[in-house]
Amino acid sequence: MTDVEGPSTPSDPRASLRNRVFVVGAGLMGTGIAAQCALAGYAVTLEDVNPELVGRGLERVKKTLDHAVRRGKATPEATETALQGIDTAIGLRRTDTAQIVIEAAPENLELKRGLFREIEAAADPQALLATNTSSLPITSIASVLQDPGRLVGIHFFNPVLQMELVEVIPGHRTRPEATQAAEAFARALGKTVVRSTDSPGFVTTRAIGVLVNEATWMLYEGVSTRVEIDTAYKLGFHHPMGPFELADLVGLDTLVSIMDVLWDGFRDPKYRACPLLRRMVEAGKLGRKSGEGFYSYPPRGTPAGAD
Ligand SMILES: NC(=O)c1ccc[n+]([C@@H]2O[C@H](COP(=O)([O-])OP(=O)(O)OC[C@H]3O[C@@H](n4cnc5c(N)ncnc54)[C@H](O)[C@@H]3O)[C@@H](O)[C@H]2O)c1
Repeated sequence: MTDVEGPSTPSDPRASLRNRVFVVGAGLMGTGIAAQCALAGYAVTLEDVNPELVGRGLERVKKTLDHAVRRGKATPEATETALQGIDTAIGLRRTDTAQIVIEAAPENLELKRGLFREIEAAADPQALLATNTSSLPITSIASVLQDPGRLVGIHFFNPVLQMELVEVIPGHRTRPEATQAAEAFARALGKTVVRSTDSPGFVTTRAIGVLVNEATWMLYEGVSTRVEIDTAYKLGFHHPMGPFELADLVGLDTLVSIMDVLWDGFRDPKYRACPLLRRMVEAGKLGRKSGEGFYSYPPRGTPAGAD
């Protein structure tokens, strides 16, 4: 495993090889990870399946960096340098020049396994392979690799630039050096690392699943109203958001999938998804992304009170 402690300076001739991060998937998380790595001085390749998606991803990276400037978190010069350090790719062939490959494709086990088979065939054998999965077992993803010891979970949070936490998850066969390299990499990005074993839902996904599910059971049983339950969590425990506000942000479909992962992994009734959560998903109430979840979100520009 090569040393992945930190980026080289932009003028470092090794930058094109030793310190390149290849990000697979230019969606919400991939673009955030790309922006974060570029700001920290890594050369970045942002990849997706077609030019349109990669173009959209690059635009999103620019917006993320502009937002960081507006919040006083980065200088215009630093973001300009960061942008210059990002290039794009279609397909995985160019993983061969990267020191770290981070997969941020959709949350689907077979898709991720297929991607890592391809990545292993193309990438530098010394490169660290990482997945940003929030709930799939690292061991299952790695099981298709000839060398499963090099794959580790590096779980970033949304929005990547603003969230300080990174969860590092070694699979059952992950070599200690790979885990250490992943932790050193996350720290080089300025993150605080929490290590989790490859237990269903790790630490954070299990925590959010149970938190929202329990609140939904209380609503379902008529213990209190959604607004009062949200208020109780916020004022009682200093949570910045109530569980239903959080559920609407994360997506109710994602939360049901999380509960199903916990149920599959533990077979413990405490992880049974509340029927109300499931019914709401079936009704298309997914949260902010569908315009309605536990609360309603009228499209921007809709006059107040309009149907
Ligand atoms: N959204 C979150 O808040 C969040 C937080 C932490 C972790 N995650 C995890 O990060 C991963 C990505 O989530 P997201 O929210 O960014 O999803 P997303 O749908 O926004 O982005 C996924 C991207 O992957 C691309 N893609 C699909 N197939 C591909 C392929 N074969 N090769 C390369 N790219 C491909 C898609 O075109 C899309 O641009 C998931 O595993 C998710 O569980 C998400």
